[in-house]
Amino acid sequence: MSRNFRVTEHPSFDVLAATTAARLITRLLDVQSERGEATVVLTGGSVGIATLREIGQSPAHLAVDWSKVNFWFGDDRFVETDSPDRNYGQAAEALLNQIPVDPARVHIMPASDTVADLDEAVSQYAAELAAAAQAEWHNDESREAEAAEVAPVVPRFDVLLLGLGPDAHIASLFPDMAGIRTKGVSVVGVRNSPKPPPTRVSLTLETINSAQEIWIVAAGADKAAAVGLGLAGANAVQVPASGARGMQKTLWLLDQAAAAKVPGVLTHRNS
Ligand code: 6PG
Repeated sequence: MSRNFRVTEHPSFDVLAATTAARLITRLLDVQSERGEATVVLTGGSVGIATLREIGQSPAHLAVDWSKVNFWFGDDRFVETDSPDRNYGQAAEALLNQIPVDPARVHIMPASDTVADLDEAVSQYAAELAAAAQAEWHNDESREAEAAEVAPVVPRFDVLLLGLGPDAHIASLFPDMAGIRTKGVSVVGVRNSPKPPPTRVSLTLETINSAQEIWIVAAGADKAAAVGLGLAGANAVQVPASGARGMQKTLWLLDQAAAAKVPGVLTHRNS
């Protein structure tokens, strides 16, 4: 995994969301020009959803071929489809319903009224990831057709967005809980989440770290301690955010308040 690691501070929540939106539009355009399609993993949370809203309000978003963007989710709440708590529902209202996506490329984590139980939701999403990975692998002309090569179980994620909890959780991986300790699988069911609602579906840390780029977005003074811990190289089980490492790049995109405990030398300022 790369150590290309950058921390950027923004003067306010709004500038952070607008700048992250601009970055994401540019990244999607660059990837699409190289590969024809692009893949982004969305996050719930205040900054993640505000970023989507800003994308829809930016004229630049019209340059993206949204029908060739694959959308996945880092986590979602295991509640009913029409619950306002659904990350998918918030993302759809903020952006996905406003742009010409290909519904087949929008991969929604199952809601509690669409499957029998949480375990089924987890296995369904894992199977959807594996199917996409297989299809991508077979279509990849650049890949050496070596028999020994094993198809990946998750597709290529060009950008994976993560919000940050005040306890340094990412996606629905919470400190010291089973989810952050889970290895060897791509998706995990979370029960008794300290952040309501209690039941969730989440990508595992291994899956998160398979992304080419991870962007952790955080705003507010209540996140400053989590940012400080996350950047101090603490143990990922106690500080999940510190375990997030993109294959090519890891960006921490913060507002001034959330960056308050980051040593000055680390932050670039976008102001
Ligand atoms: C969720 C999110 C979660 C969120 C953080 C930050 O489903 O709750 O995925 O990881 O991004 O808790 O949320 P806020 O920015 O709203 O504090």
